[in-house]
Amino acid sequence: MKKLSILLTLSILCIHCKPSSTEEKIMGLVAEKAIVVSAREEASKIGIEILKKGGNAFDAMVATELALAVSYPYAGNLGGGGFMVYRKNNGEIGALDYREKAPLAASKNMYLDENNKIIKGKSTLGAMAVGIPGTVAGVFEVHKKFGTLSIEEILKPVIELAKQGVIVTKKQEERIKRYQPYFKKANKSLILFDSIWKENEVITYPALAATLERISKNGRDEFYKGETAKRLVHFIQENGGIITLGDLAKYEAKWRTPITFKYDNLRVISMSPPSSGGVCLAQIMNGIEAYDLNTYGHNSTKAIQVITEAERRAYADRSFFLGDPDFVSIPIDTLISKEYNKGRMTDFSFDSATKSADISHGNIAIVESDETTHYSIIDQFGNAVSVTTTLNGAYGSKLYCDDLGFFLNNEMDDFSSKAGVPNMFGLIGAKANEIAPEKRMLSSMTPTIVEKDGNLWMVVGTPGGSTIITSVLQTILNVHEFNFGMQEAINQPRFHHQWMPDVIMMEPNKFDKKTTNELKKLGYKINEKDAPVIGKVEGILVLPNGKLEGGADPRGDDTAVGF
Ligand code: DON
Repeated sequence: MKKLSILLTLSILCIHCKPSSTEEKIMGLVAEKAIVVSAREEASKIGIEILKKGGNAFDAMVATELALAVSYPYAGNLGGGGFMVYRKNNGEIGALDYREKAPLAASKNMYLDENNKIIKGKSTLGAMAVGIPGTVAGVFEVHKKFGTLSIEEILKPVIELAKQGVIVTKKQEERIKRYQPYFKKANKSLILFDSIWKENEVITYPALAATLERISKNGRDEFYKGETAKRLVHFIQENGGIITLGDLAKYEAKWRTPITFKYDNLRVISMSPPSSGGVCLAQIMNGIEAYDLNTYGHNSTKAIQVITEAERRAYADRSFFLGDPDFVSIPIDTLISKEYNKGRMTDFSFDSATKSADISHGNIAIVESDETTHYSIIDQFGNAVSVTTTLNGAYGSKLYCDDLGFFLNNEMDDFSSKAGVPNMFGLIGAKANEIAPEKRMLSSMTPTIVEKDGNLWMVVGTPGGSTIITSVLQTILNVHEFNFGMQEAINQPRFHHQWMPDVIMMEPNKFDKKTTNELKKLGYKINEKDAPVIGKVEGILVLPNGKLEGGADPRGDDTAVGF
Protein backbone atom coordinates (compact mmCIF):
# COMPACT_ATOMS: atom_id res chain seq x y z
CA MET A 1 0.00 0.00 0.00
CA LYS A 2 1.27 3.44 -0.84
CA LYS A 3 0.50 6.22 1.56
CA LEU A 4 0.64 9.68 0.01
CA SER A 5 2.67 11.05 2.89
CA ILE A 6 5.25 8.30 2.55
CA LEU A 7 5.42 8.95 -1.16
CA LEU A 8 5.97 12.67 -0.71
CA THR A 9 8.67 12.12 1.90
CA LEU A 10 10.40 9.55 -0.24
CA SER A 11 10.25 11.67 -3.33
CA ILE A 12 11.90 14.55 -1.49
CA LEU A 13 14.51 12.41 0.27
CA CYS A 14 15.32 10.08 -2.54
CA ILE A 15 14.47 11.39 -5.94
CA HIS A 16 16.37 8.59 -7.67
CA CYS A 17 13.96 6.02 -6.19
CA LYS A 18 11.53 7.09 -8.88
CA PRO A 19 13.33 6.46 -12.13
CA SER A 20 10.86 8.51 -14.12
CA SER A 21 11.42 11.73 -12.22
CA THR A 22 15.17 12.01 -12.78
CA GLU A 23 15.29 11.00 -16.40
CA GLU A 24 13.28 12.64 -19.12
CA LYS A 25 9.75 11.38 -18.78
CA ILE A 26 8.56 9.34 -21.73
CA MET A 27 5.07 10.53 -22.57
CA GLY A 28 2.50 8.89 -24.78
CA LEU A 29 0.09 10.91 -26.88
CA VAL A 30 -1.39 13.76 -24.84
CA ALA A 31 -4.81 14.98 -25.97
CA GLU A 32 -7.28 17.54 -24.63
CA LYS A 33 -10.55 15.68 -25.04
CA ALA A 34 -10.54 12.17 -26.43
CA ILE A 35 -8.26 9.23 -27.22
CA VAL A 36 -8.68 5.88 -28.91
CA VAL A 37 -5.77 3.49 -28.53
CA SER A 38 -5.76 0.17 -30.35
CA ALA A 39 -3.53 -2.37 -32.07
CA ARG A 40 -3.65 -0.54 -35.44
CA GLU A 41 -3.47 3.10 -36.35
CA GLU A 42 -6.23 2.63 -38.94
CA ALA A 43 -8.65 1.41 -36.28
CA SER A 44 -7.75 4.13 -33.76
CA LYS A 45 -8.23 6.75 -36.51
CA ILE A 46 -11.67 5.43 -37.43
CA GLY A 47 -12.70 5.45 -33.75
CA ILE A 48 -11.60 9.09 -33.50
CA GLU A 49 -13.34 9.98 -36.77
CA ILE A 50 -16.61 8.74 -35.26
CA LEU A 51 -16.03 10.81 -32.11
CA LYS A 52 -15.27 13.90 -34.20
CA LYS A 53 -18.58 13.39 -35.98
CA GLY A 54 -20.22 13.81 -32.58
CA GLY A 55 -20.52 10.12 -31.74
CA ASN A 56 -19.82 8.90 -28.22
CA ALA A 57 -17.42 6.25 -26.88
CA PHE A 58 -19.98 3.53 -27.60
CA ASP A 59 -20.33 4.53 -31.26
CA ALA A 60 -16.52 4.58 -31.39
CA MET A 61 -16.46 1.11 -29.80
CA VAL A 62 -18.55 -0.30 -32.65
CA ALA A 63 -16.35 1.41 -35.24
CA THR A 64 -13.04 0.44 -33.62
CA GLU A 65 -14.06 -3.17 -33.04
CA LEU A 66 -15.07 -3.63 -36.68
CA ALA A 67 -12.11 -1.62 -38.00
CA LEU A 68 -9.84 -4.03 -36.10
CA ALA A 69 -11.67 -6.91 -37.81
CA VAL A 70 -10.48 -5.39 -41.09
CA SER A 71 -7.04 -4.05 -40.19
CA TYR A 72 -5.88 -6.63 -37.64
CA PRO A 73 -7.08 -10.07 -38.77
CA TYR A 74 -4.57 -11.61 -36.33
CA ALA A 75 -7.06 -10.95 -33.51
CA GLY A 76 -9.65 -8.38 -34.58
CA ASN A 77 -12.67 -10.28 -35.73
CA LEU A 78 -16.20 -11.00 -36.82
CA GLY A 79 -15.60 -14.67 -36.05
CA GLY A 80 -14.69 -14.32 -32.37
CA GLY A 81 -15.95 -12.62 -29.24
CA GLY A 82 -15.02 -10.33 -26.38
CA PHE A 83 -15.89 -8.30 -23.31
CA MET A 84 -16.54 -4.61 -22.73
CA VAL A 85 -16.43 -2.70 -19.45
CA TYR A 86 -17.75 0.87 -19.46
CA ARG A 87 -18.05 3.86 -17.20
CA LYS A 88 -20.34 6.66 -18.30
CA ASN A 89 -19.59 10.28 -17.50
CA ASN A 90 -22.22 10.17 -14.73
CA GLY A 91 -20.30 7.36 -13.01
CA GLU A 92 -22.66 4.58 -14.10
CA ILE A 93 -20.77 1.35 -14.83
CA GLY A 94 -21.54 -1.90 -16.60
CA ALA A 95 -20.14 -4.76 -18.65
CA LEU A 96 -21.08 -6.63 -21.79
CA ASP A 97 -20.25 -10.29 -22.39
CA TYR A 98 -20.13 -11.22 -26.06
CA ARG A 99 -18.00 -14.28 -25.44
CA GLU A 100 -18.34 -17.28 -27.75
CA LYS A 101 -20.44 -20.28 -26.66
CA ALA A 102 -20.09 -24.01 -27.15
CA PRO A 103 -22.33 -25.35 -29.93
CA LEU A 104 -25.50 -27.32 -29.04
CA ALA A 105 -23.81 -30.50 -30.26
CA ALA A 106 -20.73 -29.99 -28.03
CA SER A 107 -20.00 -32.47 -25.27
CA LYS A 108 -17.72 -32.80 -22.29
CA ASN A 109 -15.33 -35.29 -23.92
CA MET A 110 -15.44 -34.03 -27.48
CA TYR A 111 -11.66 -33.52 -27.63
CA LEU A 112 -10.77 -36.95 -26.15
CA ASP A 113 -10.10 -40.19 -28.04
CA GLU A 114 -11.37 -43.64 -27.03
CA ASN A 115 -8.49 -43.94 -24.54
CA ASN A 116 -9.52 -40.71 -22.86
CA LYS A 117 -6.50 -38.91 -24.30
CA ILE A 118 -6.63 -35.39 -25.71
CA ILE A 119 -6.72 -35.44 -29.53
CA LYS A 120 -3.90 -33.06 -30.41
CA GLY A 121 -4.99 -29.94 -32.27
CA LYS A 122 -8.72 -30.71 -32.26
CA SER A 123 -9.58 -27.83 -29.91
CA THR A 124 -7.14 -25.43 -31.56
CA LEU A 125 -7.03 -25.96 -35.34
CA GLY A 126 -9.90 -26.09 -37.83
CA ALA A 127 -13.68 -26.18 -37.64
CA MET A 128 -14.06 -28.32 -34.50
CA ALA A 129 -12.26 -25.63 -32.46
CA VAL A 130 -14.79 -22.93 -33.27
CA GLY A 131 -17.19 -21.48 -30.69
CA ILE A 132 -20.33 -19.55 -31.71
CA PRO A 133 -19.07 -16.05 -32.55
CA GLY A 134 -20.35 -13.19 -30.41
CA THR A 135 -18.76 -10.05 -31.88
CA VAL A 136 -21.58 -8.92 -34.19
CA ALA A 137 -24.16 -9.46 -31.43
CA GLY A 138 -21.87 -7.53 -29.08
CA VAL A 139 -21.49 -4.41 -31.18
CA PHE A 140 -25.20 -4.28 -32.00
CA GLU A 141 -26.08 -4.67 -28.30
CA VAL A 142 -23.79 -1.75 -27.43
CA HIS A 143 -25.28 0.31 -30.21
CA LYS A 144 -28.87 -0.49 -29.21
CA LYS A 145 -28.28 0.62 -25.63
CA PHE A 146 -25.94 3.58 -26.01
CA GLY A 147 -25.39 4.44 -29.69
CA THR A 148 -26.16 7.91 -31.03
CA LEU A 149 -25.08 7.72 -34.68
CA SER A 150 -26.68 5.30 -37.14
CA ILE A 151 -25.06 1.93 -37.83
CA GLU A 152 -24.69 2.92 -41.49
CA GLU A 153 -22.76 6.04 -40.54
CA ILE A 154 -20.53 4.11 -38.13
CA LEU A 155 -19.80 1.28 -40.58
CA LYS A 156 -19.17 3.52 -43.59
CA PRO A 157 -15.46 4.23 -42.90
CA VAL A 158 -14.93 0.60 -41.90
CA ILE A 159 -16.34 -0.68 -45.18
CA GLU A 160 -14.29 1.91 -47.03
CA LEU A 161 -11.15 0.67 -45.25
CA ALA A 162 -11.89 -2.93 -46.28
CA LYS A 163 -12.31 -1.81 -49.89
CA GLN A 164 -9.30 0.50 -50.02
CA GLY A 165 -7.15 -1.99 -48.14
CA VAL A 166 -4.67 -1.90 -45.29
CA ILE A 167 -0.90 -1.49 -45.46
CA VAL A 168 1.13 -4.48 -44.27
CA THR A 169 3.50 -3.60 -41.43
CA LYS A 170 6.84 -5.32 -40.83
CA LYS A 171 5.44 -7.14 -37.80
CA GLN A 172 2.41 -8.25 -39.81
CA GLU A 173 4.59 -9.51 -42.66
CA GLU A 174 6.46 -11.68 -40.16
CA ARG A 175 3.28 -12.92 -38.47
CA ILE A 176 1.60 -13.95 -41.71
CA LYS A 177 4.72 -15.84 -42.77
CA ARG A 178 4.97 -17.56 -39.39
CA TYR A 179 1.41 -18.87 -39.51
CA GLN A 180 1.22 -19.93 -43.18
CA PRO A 181 1.98 -23.61 -42.45
CA TYR A 182 -1.06 -23.66 -40.12
CA PHE A 183 -3.31 -21.91 -42.68
CA LYS A 184 -2.48 -24.74 -45.07
CA LYS A 185 -3.32 -27.37 -42.45
CA ALA A 186 -6.65 -25.81 -41.45
CA ASN A 187 -8.03 -24.89 -44.88
CA LYS A 188 -9.00 -27.04 -47.85
CA SER A 189 -7.89 -24.48 -50.39
CA LEU A 190 -5.46 -21.58 -50.47
CA ILE A 191 -6.58 -18.45 -48.64
CA LEU A 192 -5.78 -14.76 -49.02
CA PHE A 193 -3.01 -15.03 -46.42
CA ASP A 194 -1.20 -17.85 -48.19
CA SER A 195 0.23 -15.30 -50.63
CA ILE A 196 3.58 -13.71 -49.87
CA TRP A 197 2.75 -10.35 -48.29
CA LYS A 198 5.56 -7.85 -47.89
CA GLU A 199 5.83 -4.76 -45.73
CA ASN A 200 4.14 -1.69 -47.31
CA GLU A 201 2.00 -3.76 -49.69
CA VAL A 202 -1.74 -3.21 -49.42
CA ILE A 203 -4.20 -6.02 -48.73
CA THR A 204 -7.77 -5.31 -49.81
CA TYR A 205 -10.70 -7.18 -48.32
CA PRO A 206 -13.58 -7.20 -50.85
CA ALA A 207 -15.34 -10.26 -49.35
CA LEU A 208 -15.25 -8.74 -45.87
CA ALA A 209 -16.47 -5.40 -47.26
CA ALA A 210 -19.46 -7.19 -48.83
CA THR A 211 -20.23 -8.99 -45.53
CA LEU A 212 -20.06 -5.70 -43.62
CA GLU A 213 -22.28 -4.02 -46.22
CA ARG A 214 -24.96 -6.68 -45.73
CA ILE A 215 -24.66 -6.33 -41.93
CA SER A 216 -24.90 -2.55 -42.21
CA LYS A 217 -28.05 -2.87 -44.33
CA ASN A 218 -29.83 -5.77 -42.61
CA GLY A 219 -28.60 -5.46 -39.01
CA ARG A 220 -27.47 -8.03 -36.46
CA ASP A 221 -29.71 -10.81 -37.75
CA GLU A 222 -27.86 -10.82 -41.06
CA PHE A 223 -25.02 -12.56 -39.20
CA TYR A 224 -27.14 -14.84 -36.99
CA LYS A 225 -30.14 -15.69 -39.18
CA GLY A 226 -29.66 -14.21 -42.66
CA GLU A 227 -27.68 -15.00 -45.78
CA THR A 228 -24.36 -14.56 -43.95
CA ALA A 229 -25.48 -17.09 -41.31
CA LYS A 230 -26.38 -19.64 -43.98
CA ARG A 231 -23.13 -19.21 -45.84
CA LEU A 232 -21.14 -19.38 -42.60
CA VAL A 233 -22.82 -22.57 -41.36
CA HIS A 234 -22.43 -24.18 -44.76
CA PHE A 235 -18.72 -23.32 -44.70
CA ILE A 236 -18.13 -24.59 -41.16
CA GLN A 237 -19.96 -27.88 -41.76
CA GLU A 238 -18.20 -28.42 -45.06
CA ASN A 239 -14.98 -28.23 -43.05
CA GLY A 240 -16.12 -30.80 -40.51
CA GLY A 241 -17.55 -28.52 -37.82
CA ILE A 242 -20.73 -28.97 -35.78
CA ILE A 243 -22.15 -25.44 -35.65
CA THR A 244 -25.71 -25.17 -36.95
CA LEU A 245 -28.11 -22.39 -37.91
CA GLY A 246 -29.86 -23.13 -34.60
CA ASP A 247 -26.65 -22.30 -32.76
CA LEU A 248 -26.32 -18.93 -34.47
CA ALA A 249 -29.99 -18.10 -34.05
CA LYS A 250 -29.79 -18.72 -30.29
CA TYR A 251 -26.70 -16.56 -29.65
CA GLU A 252 -27.20 -13.51 -27.40
CA ALA A 253 -24.70 -11.10 -25.90
CA LYS A 254 -25.30 -10.60 -22.15
CA TRP A 255 -25.04 -7.58 -19.87
CA ARG A 256 -23.14 -8.47 -16.70
CA THR A 257 -22.36 -6.70 -13.46
CA PRO A 258 -18.65 -5.86 -13.44
CA ILE A 259 -16.35 -6.88 -10.59
CA THR A 260 -15.49 -3.86 -8.45
CA PHE A 261 -13.07 -3.54 -5.55
CA LYS A 262 -11.01 -0.95 -3.71
CA TYR A 263 -7.23 -0.71 -3.56
CA ASP A 264 -5.91 2.27 -1.58
CA ASN A 265 -7.79 5.26 -3.01
CA LEU A 266 -8.52 3.45 -6.28
CA ARG A 267 -11.70 1.68 -7.28
CA VAL A 268 -11.09 -0.97 -9.92
CA ILE A 269 -13.91 -1.93 -12.30
CA SER A 270 -13.18 -5.06 -14.30
CA MET A 271 -14.74 -7.98 -16.14
CA SER A 272 -16.81 -10.54 -14.32
CA PRO A 273 -17.20 -14.26 -15.19
CA PRO A 274 -17.18 -15.89 -17.65
CA SER A 275 -13.93 -13.99 -17.59
CA SER A 276 -11.62 -14.74 -14.70
CA GLY A 277 -9.99 -11.33 -15.23
CA GLY A 278 -11.80 -9.20 -12.66
CA VAL A 279 -11.93 -11.88 -9.97
CA CYS A 280 -8.23 -12.76 -10.27
CA LEU A 281 -7.20 -9.11 -10.42
CA ALA A 282 -9.22 -8.44 -7.25
CA GLN A 283 -7.67 -11.46 -5.53
CA ILE A 284 -4.12 -10.46 -6.41
CA MET A 285 -4.56 -6.78 -5.53
CA ASN A 286 -6.27 -7.62 -2.25
CA GLY A 287 -3.47 -10.09 -1.50
CA ILE A 288 -0.71 -7.49 -2.03
CA GLU A 289 -2.41 -4.39 -0.61
CA ALA A 290 -0.89 -4.77 2.85
CA TYR A 291 2.67 -4.82 1.47
CA ASP A 292 4.58 -1.61 0.83
CA LEU A 293 5.56 -2.24 -2.78
CA ASN A 294 6.60 1.35 -3.32
CA THR A 295 9.28 1.06 -0.64
CA TYR A 296 10.51 -2.29 -1.99
CA GLY A 297 11.02 -0.62 -5.41
CA HIS A 298 9.81 -1.32 -8.94
CA ASN A 299 10.66 -4.85 -10.13
CA SER A 300 12.77 -5.40 -7.01
CA THR A 301 13.17 -8.89 -5.57
CA LYS A 302 10.70 -8.24 -2.76
CA ALA A 303 8.07 -6.66 -5.02
CA ILE A 304 8.32 -9.55 -7.49
CA GLN A 305 8.06 -12.04 -4.61
CA VAL A 306 4.89 -10.51 -3.16
CA ILE A 307 3.18 -10.17 -6.53
CA THR A 308 4.21 -13.68 -7.61
CA GLU A 309 2.90 -15.26 -4.42
CA ALA A 310 -0.46 -13.49 -4.69
CA GLU A 311 -0.69 -14.52 -8.36
CA ARG A 312 0.12 -18.15 -7.51
CA ARG A 313 -2.76 -18.31 -5.03
CA ALA A 314 -5.26 -16.49 -7.25
CA TYR A 315 -4.56 -18.73 -10.27
CA ALA A 316 -4.94 -21.85 -8.10
CA ASP A 317 -8.43 -20.61 -7.21
CA ARG A 318 -9.14 -19.69 -10.81
CA SER A 319 -8.58 -23.21 -12.01
CA PHE A 320 -10.95 -24.68 -9.42
CA PHE A 321 -13.77 -22.21 -8.94
CA LEU A 322 -14.22 -20.27 -12.17
CA GLY A 323 -16.40 -21.00 -15.19
CA ASP A 324 -19.53 -19.71 -16.89
CA PRO A 325 -21.74 -18.22 -14.13
CA ASP A 326 -24.84 -19.34 -16.06
CA PHE A 327 -23.72 -22.95 -15.50
CA VAL A 328 -21.76 -23.03 -12.23
CA SER A 329 -22.03 -21.31 -8.86
CA ILE A 330 -18.99 -19.18 -8.14
CA PRO A 331 -18.29 -17.88 -4.62
CA ILE A 332 -17.40 -14.46 -6.01
CA ASP A 333 -18.01 -12.41 -2.87
CA THR A 334 -15.64 -14.54 -0.81
CA LEU A 335 -13.07 -14.90 -3.55
CA ILE A 336 -12.67 -11.15 -4.00
CA SER A 337 -12.92 -10.19 -0.34
CA LYS A 338 -10.01 -8.57 1.51
CA GLU A 339 -10.17 -11.05 4.42
CA TYR A 340 -10.06 -14.15 2.23
CA ASN A 341 -7.06 -12.96 0.22
CA LYS A 342 -5.22 -11.72 3.27
CA GLY A 343 -5.75 -15.18 4.73
CA ARG A 344 -4.36 -16.80 1.58
CA MET A 345 -1.11 -14.83 2.01
CA THR A 346 -0.50 -15.79 5.65
CA ASP A 347 1.68 -18.79 4.74
CA PHE A 348 3.96 -16.65 2.55
CA SER A 349 7.37 -15.68 3.87
CA PHE A 350 10.06 -13.53 2.24
CA ASP A 351 12.56 -16.26 3.20
CA SER A 352 11.64 -18.68 0.44
CA ALA A 353 9.30 -19.36 -2.46
CA THR A 354 6.07 -21.19 -1.77
CA LYS A 355 5.84 -24.32 -3.93
CA SER A 356 2.81 -24.44 -6.22
CA ALA A 357 2.52 -28.14 -5.46
CA ASP A 358 1.83 -27.15 -1.83
CA ILE A 359 -0.91 -24.72 -2.84
CA SER A 360 -4.39 -25.71 -3.78
CA HIS A 361 -7.58 -23.73 -4.16
CA GLY A 362 -8.76 -22.01 -1.00
CA ASN A 363 -11.16 -23.63 1.37
CA ILE A 364 -14.53 -22.10 0.73
CA ALA A 365 -17.07 -24.37 2.36
CA ILE A 366 -20.30 -22.86 1.15
CA VAL A 367 -20.68 -22.24 -2.52
CA GLU A 368 -22.68 -19.00 -2.60
CA SER A 369 -25.62 -18.21 -4.55
CA ASP A 370 -1.66 -16.26 -28.70
CA GLU A 371 -4.33 -13.85 -30.02
CA THR A 372 -6.40 -11.20 -28.65
CA THR A 373 -6.50 -7.45 -28.85
CA HIS A 374 -7.52 -4.64 -26.55
CA TYR A 375 -8.62 -1.07 -27.16
CA SER A 376 -9.35 1.75 -24.77
CA ILE A 377 -11.50 4.79 -25.47
CA ILE A 378 -12.28 8.01 -23.61
CA ASP A 379 -14.59 10.36 -25.47
CA GLN A 380 -15.03 14.13 -25.37
CA PHE A 381 -18.01 13.68 -23.03
CA GLY A 382 -16.00 11.79 -20.41
CA ASN A 383 -17.41 8.31 -21.16
CA ALA A 384 -14.90 5.46 -20.96
CA VAL A 385 -14.90 2.11 -22.71
CA SER A 386 -12.46 -0.75 -22.22
CA VAL A 387 -12.73 -3.68 -24.64
CA THR A 388 -10.79 -6.89 -25.14
CA THR A 389 -11.73 -8.99 -28.15
CA THR A 390 -10.28 -12.22 -29.45
CA LEU A 391 -10.10 -15.15 -31.83
CA ASN A 392 -8.10 -16.90 -29.04
CA GLY A 393 -4.97 -18.13 -30.85
CA ALA A 394 -3.23 -16.08 -33.53
CA TYR A 395 -5.71 -16.02 -36.45
CA GLY A 396 -7.96 -18.23 -34.26
CA SER A 397 -8.58 -21.72 -35.63
CA LYS A 398 -6.69 -20.57 -38.79
CA LEU A 399 -9.87 -21.55 -40.64
CA TYR A 400 -10.59 -18.63 -42.96
CA CYS A 401 -13.93 -18.22 -44.66
CA ASP A 402 -12.82 -16.76 -48.00
CA ASP A 403 -16.42 -16.30 -49.03
CA LEU A 404 -17.22 -13.99 -46.09
CA GLY A 405 -13.70 -12.65 -45.55
CA PHE A 406 -12.86 -13.54 -41.95
CA PHE A 407 -11.12 -16.05 -39.67
CA LEU A 408 -13.01 -18.18 -37.15
CA ASN A 409 -11.98 -18.46 -33.52
CA ASN A 410 -10.54 -21.47 -31.70
CA GLU A 411 -12.07 -20.39 -28.41
CA MET A 412 -13.19 -23.96 -27.54
CA ASP A 413 -9.61 -24.51 -26.30
CA ASP A 414 -10.36 -22.13 -23.41
CA PHE A 415 -12.54 -24.84 -21.92
CA SER A 416 -10.88 -27.52 -19.85
CA SER A 417 -10.89 -30.40 -22.38
CA LYS A 418 -9.81 -32.77 -19.61
CA ALA A 419 -9.52 -31.99 -15.91
CA GLY A 420 -5.93 -31.23 -14.92
CA VAL A 421 -4.56 -31.14 -18.49
CA PRO A 422 -3.25 -27.70 -19.48
CA ASN A 423 -4.68 -25.82 -22.47
CA MET A 424 -2.61 -23.80 -24.93
CA PHE A 425 -1.88 -21.18 -22.27
CA GLY A 426 -0.80 -23.87 -19.78
CA LEU A 427 -3.96 -23.19 -17.77
CA ILE A 428 -5.47 -26.06 -15.87
CA GLY A 429 -9.21 -26.31 -15.35
CA ALA A 430 -11.63 -28.47 -13.49
CA LYS A 431 -15.35 -29.21 -13.45
CA ALA A 432 -16.36 -25.56 -13.34
CA ASN A 433 -14.90 -25.05 -16.82
CA GLU A 434 -15.75 -28.37 -18.49
CA ILE A 435 -17.51 -28.30 -21.86
CA ALA A 436 -21.32 -28.26 -22.07
CA PRO A 437 -23.66 -27.21 -24.87
CA GLU A 438 -24.26 -23.45 -24.89
CA LYS A 439 -21.75 -22.84 -22.11
CA ARG A 440 -19.24 -19.97 -22.36
CA MET A 441 -15.58 -20.94 -21.94
CA LEU A 442 -13.62 -19.31 -19.11
CA SER A 443 -11.54 -16.33 -20.20
CA SER A 444 -8.65 -14.30 -18.79
CA MET A 445 -9.59 -11.13 -20.61
CA THR A 446 -9.46 -8.17 -18.27
CA PRO A 447 -10.85 -4.98 -19.78
CA THR A 448 -10.56 -2.59 -16.84
CA ILE A 449 -11.39 0.94 -15.79
CA VAL A 450 -9.95 2.49 -12.64
CA GLU A 451 -11.28 5.42 -10.64
CA LYS A 452 -9.08 7.45 -8.31
CA ASP A 453 -10.81 9.29 -5.48
CA GLY A 454 -14.10 8.69 -7.25
CA ASN A 455 -13.04 10.12 -10.63
CA LEU A 456 -12.19 8.41 -13.90
CA TRP A 457 -8.44 7.74 -13.83
CA MET A 458 -7.36 4.92 -16.15
CA VAL A 459 -8.71 2.72 -18.94
CA VAL A 460 -6.54 -0.34 -19.52
CA GLY A 461 -6.36 -3.84 -20.98
CA THR A 462 -4.24 -6.20 -23.08
CA PRO A 463 -4.09 -9.50 -24.97
CA GLY A 464 -1.82 -12.31 -23.80
CA GLY A 465 -3.93 -15.31 -22.74
CA SER A 466 -3.24 -16.19 -19.13
CA THR A 467 -0.78 -13.28 -18.83
CA ILE A 468 -3.53 -10.71 -19.45
CA ILE A 469 -4.49 -10.43 -15.79
CA THR A 470 -0.94 -9.96 -14.54
CA SER A 471 -0.08 -7.46 -17.29
CA VAL A 472 -3.09 -5.31 -16.39
CA LEU A 473 -2.09 -5.63 -12.73
CA GLN A 474 1.49 -4.46 -13.36
CA THR A 475 0.36 -1.54 -15.50
CA ILE A 476 -1.94 -0.25 -12.75
CA LEU A 477 0.76 -0.78 -10.10
CA ASN A 478 3.42 0.88 -12.24
CA VAL A 479 1.40 4.08 -12.25
CA HIS A 480 -0.13 3.93 -8.77
CA GLU A 481 2.75 2.49 -6.75
CA PHE A 482 5.77 3.46 -8.81
CA ASN A 483 4.71 6.78 -10.28
CA PHE A 484 5.26 6.05 -13.95
CA GLY A 485 3.19 7.83 -16.59
CA MET A 486 0.88 5.83 -18.87
CA GLN A 487 3.34 5.22 -21.70
CA GLU A 488 6.22 4.57 -19.32
CA ALA A 489 4.13 2.11 -17.31
CA ILE A 490 3.34 0.17 -20.46
CA ASN A 491 6.96 0.15 -21.63
CA GLN A 492 8.25 -1.49 -18.42
CA PRO A 493 9.35 -5.15 -18.54
CA ARG A 494 6.72 -7.59 -17.30
CA PHE A 495 6.68 -10.91 -15.48
CA HIS A 496 4.00 -13.51 -14.81
CA HIS A 497 3.20 -16.43 -12.54
CA GLN A 498 0.08 -18.60 -12.90
CA TRP A 499 0.44 -21.24 -10.17
CA MET A 500 1.08 -24.07 -12.67
CA PRO A 501 3.64 -24.38 -14.14
CA ASP A 502 5.56 -23.21 -11.10
CA VAL A 503 7.76 -20.66 -12.88
CA ILE A 504 8.03 -16.91 -13.13
CA MET A 505 7.90 -16.02 -16.81
CA MET A 506 9.93 -12.91 -17.51
CA GLU A 507 10.47 -10.88 -20.64
CA PRO A 508 14.03 -11.85 -21.62
CA ASN A 509 17.05 -9.75 -20.72
CA LYS A 510 14.92 -6.98 -19.26
CA PHE A 511 15.28 -7.70 -15.57
CA ASP A 512 18.26 -6.94 -13.40
CA LYS A 513 20.50 -10.04 -13.18
CA LYS A 514 21.06 -9.40 -9.47
CA THR A 515 17.29 -9.59 -8.90
CA THR A 516 16.82 -12.78 -10.92
CA ASN A 517 19.76 -14.40 -9.10
CA GLU A 518 18.29 -13.44 -5.73
CA LEU A 519 14.93 -14.87 -6.74
CA LYS A 520 16.57 -18.12 -7.85
CA LYS A 521 18.34 -18.37 -4.48
CA LEU A 522 14.99 -18.01 -2.74
CA GLY A 523 13.69 -20.99 -4.71
CA TYR A 524 11.89 -19.30 -7.61
CA LYS A 525 12.23 -20.86 -11.05
CA ILE A 526 12.70 -18.24 -13.73
CA ASN A 527 11.82 -18.72 -17.39
CA GLU A 528 13.14 -15.98 -19.67
CA LYS A 529 12.91 -18.07 -22.85
CA ASP A 530 9.28 -18.71 -23.62
CA ALA A 531 7.68 -15.29 -23.42
CA PRO A 532 9.60 -12.82 -25.58
CA VAL A 533 6.65 -10.48 -25.15
CA ILE A 534 4.15 -10.46 -22.28
CA GLY A 535 0.99 -8.55 -23.23
CA LYS A 536 0.38 -5.60 -25.52
CA VAL A 537 -1.19 -3.06 -23.23
CA GLU A 538 -3.35 -0.15 -24.38
CA GLY A 539 -4.06 2.45 -21.72
CA ILE A 540 -5.39 5.95 -21.24
CA LEU A 541 -4.62 7.96 -18.12
CA VAL A 542 -6.47 11.07 -17.00
CA LEU A 543 -3.67 13.47 -16.01
CA PRO A 544 -3.94 15.80 -13.00
CA ASN A 545 -4.61 18.75 -15.36
CA GLY A 546 -7.55 16.92 -16.93
CA LYS A 547 -5.75 16.11 -20.19
CA LEU A 548 -5.47 12.51 -21.35
CA GLU A 549 -2.31 10.47 -21.90
CA GLY A 550 -2.64 7.53 -24.26
CA GLY A 551 -0.14 4.71 -23.91
CA ALA A 552 0.27 2.31 -26.85
CA ASP A 553 2.42 -0.77 -26.43
CA PRO A 554 5.66 -0.61 -28.44
CA ARG A 555 5.65 -4.42 -28.43
CA GLY A 556 3.15 -4.23 -31.35
CA ASP A 557 2.05 -1.74 -34.03
CA ASP A 558 -0.27 -0.16 -31.47
CA THR A 559 -1.17 3.51 -31.84
CA ALA A 560 -3.03 6.15 -29.86
CA VAL A 561 -4.97 8.81 -31.76
CA GLY A 562 -6.74 11.72 -30.12
CA PHE A 563 -7.84 15.32 -30.20
O1 DON B 1 -10.16 -15.46 -23.38
C1 DON B 1 -9.00 -15.72 -23.15
O2 DON B 1 -8.50 -15.66 -22.04
C2 DON B 1 -8.10 -16.11 -24.30
N1 DON B 1 -8.87 -16.65 -25.37
C3 DON B 1 -7.31 -14.92 -24.71
C4 DON B 1 -6.35 -15.23 -25.82
C5 DON B 1 -5.26 -14.25 -25.95
O3 DON B 1 -5.16 -13.28 -25.25
C6 DON B 1 -4.25 -14.56 -26.97
N2 DON B 1 -3.30 -13.50 -27.08
N3 DON B 1 -2.16 -13.53 -26.97
